[in-house]
Amino acid sequence: MPLFRFFAEYFRPYRFRLILILLASLLDMAFNAQIPMSVKFMIDRALIEKNQRMMLIILAALAASALVVPATSLWRDYLYAGIVSRIISTLRARMFERLQWLSLDYYARTEVADVISRFSNDIAAVQRGLAITVSWGLRPLLDLFLSAVLLMILEWRLATLGILLCPLCLLGPHLLSKRSSQSSALKQEQESQLLTSIQEAMLAPALIRAFNFQYATIGRFQKRNELLSSTSIRLGFLTSLMERSASFAILVLQALIMGISGYLAFRGVISIGTFATFQALFVTLSYSFMFLAQYYPNLVNVSGGFHRIEELLREKPKVADAPEASNLPPLGKAIEFRDITFRYPGADPAGKPNLQNLGVSIRRGESVAFVGPSGSGKSTVLNLLLRFYDPESGAVLFDGIDLRQATQGSVRDQMGVVFQESFLFNATIRENIALGKPNATEQEITDAAKAAEIHDFIAALPDGYETLAGERGSRFSGGQRQRIAIARALLKDPSILVLDEATSALDPETEHAINLTFERLARGRTMISVTHRLSSVLNMDRIFVLDQGRLAEHGRHTELLQAEGIYAKMWQKQSGVQFSVVEGQGKAVLDASWLRELPLMKGVGADTLAELIRWFATEEFAADRVIFEEGDAGNAFYVLARGTVEVLRKQDGGARRLAKLSQGDYFGEMALLSNQPRNATIRSLTPCVCLSLHRDLFQRLLAQEPTIQEQIRHVFASRAAS
Ligand SMILES: Nc1ncnc2c1ncn2[C@@H]1O[C@H](COP(=O)(O)OP(=O)(O)OP(=O)(O)O)[C@@H](O)[C@H]1O
Ligand SMILES: [Mg+2]
Repeated sequence: MPLFRFFAEYFRPYRFRLILILLASLLDMAFNAQIPMSVKFMIDRALIEKNQRMMLIILAALAASALVVPATSLWRDYLYAGIVSRIISTLRARMFERLQWLSLDYYARTEVADVISRFSNDIAAVQRGLAITVSWGLRPLLDLFLSAVLLMILEWRLATLGILLCPLCLLGPHLLSKRSSQSSALKQEQESQLLTSIQEAMLAPALIRAFNFQYATIGRFQKRNELLSSTSIRLGFLTSLMERSASFAILVLQALIMGISGYLAFRGVISIGTFATFQALFVTLSYSFMFLAQYYPNLVNVSGGFHRIEELLREKPKVADAPEASNLPPLGKAIEFRDITFRYPGADPAGKPNLQNLGVSIRRGESVAFVGPSGSGKSTVLNLLLRFYDPESGAVLFDGIDLRQATQGSVRDQMGVVFQESFLFNATIRENIALGKPNATEQEITDAAKAAEIHDFIAALPDGYETLAGERGSRFSGGQRQRIAIARALLKDPSILVLDEATSALDPETEHAINLTFERLARGRTMISVTHRLSSVLNMDRIFVLDQGRLAEHGRHTELLQAEGIYAKMWQKQSGVQFSVVEGQGKAVLDASWLRELPLMKGVGADTLAELIRWFATEEFAADRVIFEEGDAGNAFYVLARGTVEVLRKQDGGARRLAKLSQGDYFGEMALLSNQPRNATIRSLTPCVCLSLHRDLFQRLLAQEPTIQEQIRHVFASRAAS
């Protein structure tokens, strides 16, 4: 029984204090019983017998108790409140600690709001339940016990009847308890869903506005809000019904007992004092019953809340240090990915693996790159290298040592990482950079910032390095965040530098400068870089080309071009679209050979192509912008010269990503022929430069070349049908 385990485990450290609390409660209980018993003695011994001395003794005893008992009760409550708040803080600390040691698969399958609700709602339920345990649980229980004993002593036949009838007042609560605990669980869940809505609204404000989803978002929130509200009403009604039914039953019971005992006193079977005391004690007894009846639902809540807390505490990290794990020595010879097959947890075990039979070896000091289309598994390779996940079969080896035999800390200590998405904590820039080396000196921090080409920018801020980054670094642009992240990785001065699209959010000049920095820093280090942009891998010692989770090719740039495989194709696609900065003016240029490969340009003469190229205009977009929206009338065709965009389609009040496009990809070609509505939305993920061609201009070309007009129509018709 989880509740019993909970009490046993969490109250154990406070057992001596609990004994004191029990003693104080016993005193309290004795005082509670003293009053009705005094009534009997007052009537039978003092009033009827006119015994003044007896009366004084009784009153003095009552007065003494009235002074001592409230003081001890107060002290007891203080003691107990201390225990409860310590237990609650222990629970919070254990949950947070657990979160720090769980591996990434947990975060992939868990909603933030669900975790937050465990920290807020469930903790609050446990706290509320524990806080009233002494006054609503322990005290009534003791009262119940003592008054039952005293009633038995006073008049056992009547007492037996009363005690047997008392549980009747639990009948109502008992019948309602199942429905009430169902409602309570439902309410908990609906609260967590509401939190999810709020969280999404806070995390994706730009996306919601760009898609005009405000009304849909409000609608969804309202629906959840109404559900929660009606569940709350229902739960409130059930709770008060439980309380009312219990107190109603008690009233009936008291009337019944008064009738019977009044009859007995009338007949002289019991004394008047006994009659009066019996009433008073029976009130205590029945109210204790009621308190317990009302305390019970709380116990259900504590148990439910604790269950959800325990679920989190019992999560086991999928990736954990082996008991015999040792610290990994600094890399001496090579990193090897040996025949690795890997699927993300939760993926269909019969489906295609995310990495399949990957075998790669990287010598110490080499600079290598993983390239390949979006979704080919590049970031996944790094996830295994950093041991965020363990492979399904095969192993990642450092100098022949399986990473599973090393401590995670010692593996990651050797690496400096810049992730695809740069995250900043809401702390100062200094603190964000110093994450790489907590005891870094001022000089080291500014040196790292200089190397990452961000020092001048920071120094020009009014607060300089003390500027707060805002939530998730929202005060800075994507490129600035990325440079701060680069400074963070450089400060660590790692022997292995790991970069995942580290320069994707930068403008071309900064990208060029930082790539030079990386080249300089790569000397004497191992550099493993993942990128879309082939222009930045030209000088790499080796390039690994991934395709759908497999290693398709590897070699140096020139070797791969000669092989005329996937890499050569990617290169052709990307190099056909170039972006350069001349005199501060960015300009994208399209190659005739690139244009010729386009299905709709097949058969178009070289002269026409050259003419067409001149009609393309360069357009720049910041990150997170909608380039065009699904349903808009289309009027231009775009070629991506720089950056990454995503293709989205509206679906069930949300948006589904169909694809990610990068340099050399194109979109919106249907608009060249007609102004039919766009069938998808294009949104920039990084700053982008596009070459665009407007329909009017293209139509002019068609007018010049009537011979290809038919053919183009044909190509479009087949595309529209697909
Ligand atoms: N946490 C995850 N859980 C389940 N599947 C995932 C997870 N992360 C990635 N995947 C899947 O694994 C595959 C490889 O993803 P990965 O992120 O390695 O691609 P990538 O080559 O880095 O692509 P990109 O260039 O877009 O960053 C994709 O099909 C992706 O959907
Ligand atoms: Mg990636």
